[in-house]
Amino acid sequence: MKALITAGGRATRLRPITWTINKHLIPLANKPMLFYAIEKIAEAGITEIGINLNPGEEEIQKACGDGSRWNVKITYIEQTGGPKGLAHILKVAQPFLGDDSFLFYLGDNIILGSIRNFVRKFRDDKVNGLLALAKVKDPSRFGVPELRDGKIVRVEEKPSVPKSEYAVTGIYCYDSNVFKAVDAIAPSARGEYEISDVHTWLIEHGYAIGYQEITGWWKDTGKPEDLLEGNQLLLSEMKSEDMTVEGTVAEGATLHGKVKIGKGTEIGERVLIRGPVVIGENCVIRNSYIGPYTSIGDGVEIYNTEIEHSVVFNQVDINCSKRIVDSMIGENASVLSAHETLPMGHKLIVGDNSMVEL
Ligand code: DAU
Repeated sequence: MKALITAGGRATRLRPITWTINKHLIPLANKPMLFYAIEKIAEAGITEIGINLNPGEEEIQKACGDGSRWNVKITYIEQTGGPKGLAHILKVAQPFLGDDSFLFYLGDNIILGSIRNFVRKFRDDKVNGLLALAKVKDPSRFGVPELRDGKIVRVEEKPSVPKSEYAVTGIYCYDSNVFKAVDAIAPSARGEYEISDVHTWLIEHGYAIGYQEITGWWKDTGKPEDLLEGNQLLLSEMKSEDMTVEGTVAEGATLHGKVKIGKGTEIGERVLIRGPVVIGENCVIRNSYIGPYTSIGDGVEIYNTEIEHSVVFNQVDINCSKRIVDSMIGENASVLSAHETLPMGHKLIVGDNSMVEL
């Protein structure tokens, strides 16, 4: 069985961060989001993975390489014509997938727990497709299944009046009949070849589409708050034995709970870190408080600041005598005190679609 992961699309809701970084490479607990998908698939015993990319993409290939790091073989597939929907991805990947059954995994979905049982259920139940469902508070953001007598009778994409409290998550197994549906459907009102229409077509044409509920944690990381929540969850799930301290910690500094500190990082006196927290390599932190659920990348300098429940990318400078919460701070950004240079006041160089609360 092969697997296909999505790593293209526009990610407009995550701008300005996604102007300069592919959404799937955004670090969560200091690891690119896409790596979690590859790890889950490798753990389920699948070794041949295709990754769908926007035309011209280069960063994903640099980050993931040939897959040997996970003992898998990665093939990159350009979505010819650009992001036209999830069913379009399947069409473009058909030569790679061939006639075998496969796992389709949206690279922006984060789950806890293994997908082994899901793959096994698909094989055991001998269905044509298996969908992972999750109960959610806001089904209208997702593909929503309509269930009758324990069976899915249709799936609607982002309905204004959802017919159930479930979302079809981004984890699916199919046999090659899925391509009949892919060829039959037309673009939706928003101009995309929708995966929900593929599901409804298969059901209406007599194919067996089963489901399994994900009872553990599942997140589609469409919005910044989803990323912060994903980061929080992945940090709390990190094993104590992986929380190594490789940098130097001054005697006057205090570390509480699970804290990981990378090589070359200096934690100065008058620093309090309350985990779970991960800090990358070659950072300097002085006279600051780093609170729970914070990830800090490489080469970051933080002075005179309190920060918690935030994601700080690489090479960021923070020195602001303020408390920063629930924030994502992109690569090379500076957050400095207004009093450092004249005239006093908040001086902002903020990219399009940024969000600043003063
Ligand atoms: O996360 C689950 C939801 O994913 C499902 O409930 C919906 O039925 C399904 O349509 C999808 O909805 P989203 O609006 O969240 O899809 P999004 O546009 O965010 O794309 C999902 C992934 O596929 C993401 O990794 C980006 C990638 N993508 C997307 C499109 C449209 C591509 O690589 N190419 C594309 O053409």
